[in-house]
Amino acid sequence: MTADKDWRAINRANWDERVGVHLKAPGYDLAPLRAGHGRLNAIEEAELGDVRGLEVLHLQCHFGADTLSLAQRGARVTGLDFSGPAIAAARGLADELGLADRARFICADLYEAPSAVGRAEAFDLVYVTWGATCWLPDIKRWAEIVAQFLKPGGRLYYADGHPSAYVFDNETKLPDGMPGYFAPYFQRAPLVMNDGFDYADPDARLVNATNVSWMHSLSSILGGLLEAGLSLDWLHEHAQVPWQMFHILVKRDDGDWHWPDRPWLPLALSLQASRR
Ligand SMILES: C[S@@+](CC[C@H](N)C(=O)[O-])C[C@H]1O[C@@H](n2cnc3c(N)ncnc32)[C@H](O)[C@@H]1O
Repeated sequence: MTADKDWRAINRANWDERVGVHLKAPGYDLAPLRAGHGRLNAIEEAELGDVRGLEVLHLQCHFGADTLSLAQRGARVTGLDFSGPAIAAARGLADELGLADRARFICADLYEAPSAVGRAEAFDLVYVTWGATCWLPDIKRWAEIVAQFLKPGGRLYYADGHPSAYVFDNETKLPDGMPGYFAPYFQRAPLVMNDGFDYADPDARLVNATNVSWMHSLSSILGGLLEAGLSLDWLHEHAQVPWQMFHILVKRDDGDWHWPDRPWLPLALSLQASRR
């Protein structure tokens, strides 16, 4: 497969189909959002801080649940995603929730964001969370784009699966139940998957089952942000993650998925980086 040429079309078809699944999925509970107080996951809730009055850019916003939760907390939000159905659903939710005056949604590829959003140095906060950068081939360019949207003093909040956890595979189990091996940490070539499973609905089977993703090491993420002119404020590694990354993980009261026994490996990474 010619992933270099086709990855966008392949991934867009995959994500377009997931939108309909996710709008009904147990993994995406929209009740709190519809009740006026959308929730983030435990990790962001603990780390993000007050967003009242901030101009926020949410990159890869999916159907806008988190974007609109930030708007409910008093931010003015711009969400960007390359999936037409995701952006249509986000706009519908914004209307339904009476948030259309403080939430706008843009349908564009991440790498087209500078022209599609068109507001360099306009944001106090760029927000990127959970399953975002693995869909992007060029992490250095991603970091440059993040940096160019930030006002001086503005910050990136980033939370995602830990790069070392992406070495393991949910679908392959070792005899002791631990996840099997998926791809080398330093792999640079695209990873082409064809399994049709969805992380938010165990019963769903996708027709557009193929997707293309990339491994990004900790140093490539951090190095990209530093080279783009951001300073690292803090970095946290977590032994829990908001989705069932591996079958063996167990859900705890905080709503996150944890190792059943000992916290073997970090499962998630979060950081804040600022433009001085
Ligand atoms: C796992 S979801 C992110 C979920 C997000 N944390 C949220 O708020 O629900 C990944 C998102 O990235 C989007 N995406 C993937 N590749 C993209 C690209 N090249 N440009 C823009 N969006 C992309 C998908 O459409 C999808 O909505």
